[in-house]
Amino acid sequence: MASLMKARTIVAGNWKMHTDLDEARKLMEALAGWSKAGRSDVQMIVAPPYPFLATAVDRASASAGTGRNSSIIIAAQNCHEEEQGAFTGEVSVRMLKSLGVDACIVGHSERRQYYGETDTIVGRKVALLLKHGLQPIYCCGERREEREDGRYRDVVSAQLHEALGALTPGEVAKVIVAYEPVWAIGTGLTATPEQAQEVHGFIRGELRLLAGEAASAIPILYGGSCKPENAAGIFAGSDINGGLIGGAALVADSFIELMRIAQQVKSSS
Ligand code: 13P
Repeated sequence: MASLMKARTIVAGNWKMHTDLDEARKLMEALAGWSKAGRSDVQMIVAPPYPFLATAVDRASASAGTGRNSSIIIAAQNCHEEEQGAFTGEVSVRMLKSLGVDACIVGHSERRQYYGETDTIVGRKVALLLKHGLQPIYCCGERREEREDGRYRDVVSAQLHEALGALTPGEVAKVIVAYEPVWAIGTGLTATPEQAQEVHGFIRGELRLLAGEAASAIPILYGGSCKPENAAGIFAGSDINGGLIGGAALVADSFIELMRIAQQVKSSS
């Protein structure tokens, strides 16, 4: 029986280590100005670098209108897995919460690759975020050689079960998942709509093992060189609930265009 529950559509921008304060302000200004008019049912999420989170939260709350999804959710790009302690240079979930940050990306492949984050660590971050009432955006995805030798399903399945396996089904149901094939990130290579939908459908099945029927309503976002030129085909996938955008999120016009495309595709499906 087809489930009545449907995942909401989300377009999230991960600014990574880009922008200075002035650029971040201008980008937020443009996004908030667009969002305020409440033109869209699509939820916008913006993940600026840590130093600009407070500015982004202020800007987003000052412009929250009353229309459809006129509010922008501000996310951090990472957090520490411990509550607090002697971890010089790190940022805790409590700090983020006290700034008014509502969500946090965890397990991005760049964190895994350059900072040695494992799914055990990422799983602890997810649990801590949920404990404090923040929305985790959990990233998974295979590397190029894992795609080429056909192991991508096994890799993604292991990531999901290791990071989310200790959570209750109700907790898993609160997570946003982002599928970001590493070979497509920042490379200009994008998964084809068929490749993306195939993995998203597989992820939905794995989430069903962890969250039961509530998995139908878990947003699964695609990330990896997603831009206005290729987004319509990707967003059309039945298990693709929007995107996690890197490069194209740094230009207000292209990010807004991605919001429009997501709205068009999902309202016609
Ligand atoms: P690009 O869109 O630049 O490939 O980055 C995707 C990404 O890593 C978003 O988190």
